[in-house]
Amino acid sequence: MFSSLRTSIGEFELPNPIIVASGPLTSSPEAVKRLIPYKPAAVVTKTIAIRPAKPPRPNMFGLSKFSLLNCEDWSEKEYSYWIEEGIPKMKELGVTVIASIVSLSERGKELAFLARSVTDAGADAIELTCLYNPVYLPNQLKIVKSSSDLPIFAKISIPVLMDEYVLNIGRKLMKVGADAIVVSDTYGPCLHIDISSFEPVLGSKNGSGRLSGRAIKPFTMYFTALLARELKTNVISCGGISTWEDVIEAILLGASATEICSAILLEGPEVIGRILDGISKYLDQKGETIGKLRGRALEKIRKRTFLPKPVRMGPPVVDAQLCTACGSCVRSCPVGAIEIKEGRATIGKLCRACGLCLSLCPVNAIRWS
Ligand SMILES: Cc1cc2nc3c(=O)[nH]c(=O)nc-3n(C[C@H](O)[C@H](O)[C@H](O)COP(=O)(O)O)c2cc1C
Repeated sequence: MFSSLRTSIGEFELPNPIIVASGPLTSSPEAVKRLIPYKPAAVVTKTIAIRPAKPPRPNMFGLSKFSLLNCEDWSEKEYSYWIEEGIPKMKELGVTVIASIVSLSERGKELAFLARSVTDAGADAIELTCLYNPVYLPNQLKIVKSSSDLPIFAKISIPVLMDEYVLNIGRKLMKVGADAIVVSDTYGPCLHIDISSFEPVLGSKNGSGRLSGRAIKPFTMYFTALLARELKTNVISCGGISTWEDVIEAILLGASATEICSAILLEGPEVIGRILDGISKYLDQKGETIGKLRGRALEKIRKRTFLPKPVRMGPPVVDAQLCTACGSCVRSCPVGAIEIKEGRATIGKLCRACGLCLSLCPVNAIRWS
């Protein structure tokens, strides 16, 4: 069953492309037990460090149904708990366990010990993360690589949204043998206050937090494609993935697998089942597999980079059979080019072919001519 869902991150085989990302959902075996019925391919433990975190409270805030802010830090549990109990008990649940570790110092001296310990505790792979600054990650990865034979994934944060910055880190990580790059952690810092009390909603010192969930998905897709295209590295996409379509998009852009945290926090673990179901149906309908779909959109992007000029479509046309005259396009047209005439939308000469109406039409009645 679900064989078309199989994927691999380098040599690391998984039954499907859905991994539960490091966070509160993976902070204990008891928490992970709730996820098991929905069959995620693996879980990444809450990040283990040499000393436990003392996160502020509150440390999570739902900004909307789809995105959230957090200031949760790494695991509040001792590393000894993870080694003696946390990882072994998760393994007893029959799930593949990726141990997330972090160094609390730039040089990463404690990483050799942590990497050896989680390996001995039975982890199947290691995810080395950074506390929002990926600059020291390549040197730290070198230490982890020399301390464990497990597959090692490097999870980056992207504090500078520029190609060269991300590619530079990516190249260095590949040079020291990263088995995959996880793109990425949360984005921030961010701030949200309660306008009744004037207080920040989170308990951190300056009230700041970091953004996750659907709002960050376009960054995930962009940097997945960039690393997969330019460096041909294995990528695990993480950030804002919440539907089966998002997973397919990431795979088309070159991801080997995906990690999900916020969508499960906001919608419950059932979302994993819904996503797997949706992917399965899509693959069946298309007669495809995850392996065959991987990276198929990259060629289209590559071709764009060779075009002498940017694409110029237009103007769009309305399919009279499909249009319900709901007026969504009329309201969203920035230049007032659309009217409802004789029970359907009509696009006039003022249209500048920006494409907004096409993307917002609820019944896909608008297309390019
Ligand atoms: C409450 C919370 C706690 C998190 N804790 C960790 C952590 O301990 N280690 C880590 O590498 N990432 C942590 N993350 C980041 C997630 O693993 C993930 O990279 C990020 O949230 C983007 O994915 P998403 O949009 O699916 O949530 C945390 C995220 C949230 C929301």
